[in-house]
Amino acid sequence: MLKNDQLDSWDRDNFFHPSTHLAQHARGESPSRVIKTASGVHIEDRDGNRLLDAFAGLYCVNVGYGRPEIAEAIAAQAKELAYYHSYVGHGTEASITLSKMILDRAPANMSKVYFGLGGSDANETNVKLIWYYNNILGRPEKKKIISRWRGYHGSGLVTGSLTGLELFHKKFDLPLAQVLHTEAPYYFRRDDLDQSEEQFVAHCVAELEAMIEREGADTIAAFIGEPVLGTGGIVPPPAGYWPAIQAVLKKHDILLVADEVVTGFGRLGSMFGSDHYGLEADIITIAKGLTSAYAPLSGSIISDKVWKVLEQGTDENGPIGHGWTYSAHPIGAAAGVANLNLIDELNLIENAGSTGAYLQKTMREALGDHPNVGDIRGEGMLCAVEFVQDRDNRHFFDPTDKIGPQISASLLAQDSVIARAMPQGDILGFAPPFCLTRAEADSVVAATKRAVEAVLPG
Ligand SMILES: Cc1ncc(COP(=O)(O)O)c(C=O)c1O
Repeated sequence: MLKNDQLDSWDRDNFFHPSTHLAQHARGESPSRVIKTASGVHIEDRDGNRLLDAFAGLYCVNVGYGRPEIAEAIAAQAKELAYYHSYVGHGTEASITLSKMILDRAPANMSKVYFGLGGSDANETNVKLIWYYNNILGRPEKKKIISRWRGYHGSGLVTGSLTGLELFHKKFDLPLAQVLHTEAPYYFRRDDLDQSEEQFVAHCVAELEAMIEREGADTIAAFIGEPVLGTGGIVPPPAGYWPAIQAVLKKHDILLVADEVVTGFGRLGSMFGSDHYGLEADIITIAKGLTSAYAPLSGSIISDKVWKVLEQGTDENGPIGHGWTYSAHPIGAAAGVANLNLIDELNLIENAGSTGAYLQKTMREALGDHPNVGDIRGEGMLCAVEFVQDRDNRHFFDPTDKIGPQISASLLAQDSVIARAMPQGDILGFAPPFCLTRAEADSVVAATKRAVEAVLPG
């Protein structure tokens, strides 16, 4: 085995880490951690430190770490057939079975699933299919996609554009011109503090309608949104938001893409966020929870309405010019089948709902009165605590104080708990595996209280 210091220097000399301060990392100024093994909600690094991962990796290891059922399914698939492509009508038992399992769980208006590798490429697929759809329908001008500020949809060219976070645009020449951003449904950060939730929803709807009016509905193809804003701050929508938005989209014949990369397969305590909020999406994006990240796999679930036009398109133009070498990779598909079976067998969606509600409740009890805690929110197994300098006037901290990152660092240093300092705002995010127990939730909450008190003594 390599010595840790040797691995550390190889890491700094050779490895380009995503979402990392490259120069600081290369110079050895920022910490690096080599993860060695994991089980349940805990991960362990090479130095033997055991950490409670209250963010499930990147909210993806939904069934928890170390599940032999999935590891064995992957090994069996690799031995029997590690790879074959899915072009021109080819498939494997695993990919066909998984598509059936997904459609059995998806909302009733869904028809087919296209498989990719990660959430970004699935959303790239969606945009291409939406453009194709409108070309087949003879509407070549109807191409723009509306996303929300603070939405997260990936970091490719079009998906990085859809993402409404400055960090993902700055110096990359993004967003691309076909992408528009509208108001985030973030009631806590509303401009007008006197607005009720209902008035704020009306404001979001008015902003969307004004954008459609300004641009022309005949130029707008689709609206993409996460049922609950994730990376943008873990923000459940205010009551009535989705029905009101969906009504506007229907009126203007604008497709709805529900990006369920985080919410799909149970994170909200429902199979899909679309079920949870009564959304009737035209396309649903899935990734993370599809395999609980035991292997890379994503998907675009296509509704009957869109599918019929895609069929018409190939009758008119020949085979669809879209596909990846690794679409429907059998190892990913085998992991997906085992993962979805495990979620059912262990009743994990029910636990995500009930233990998630318990985590939010105990977090409110522990921190609700702290003078620098502005908001505690969540849905299912998602929870966020947002910090403010002055709670009465909702005055935020100067971002350069890095209060959120300081609290997450303290949580890790004092109690070995991982929560995520969300990238825009002083927001501590929690998205544990669905198998979290109440005792584990209690220890996450107690540790968070200690970390908050260490950084913000009040
Ligand atoms: C809602 C949402 N969509 C898309 C993505 C992109 O997925 P990936 O990182 O697998 O490309 C993410 C990743 O966090 C996400 O949260």
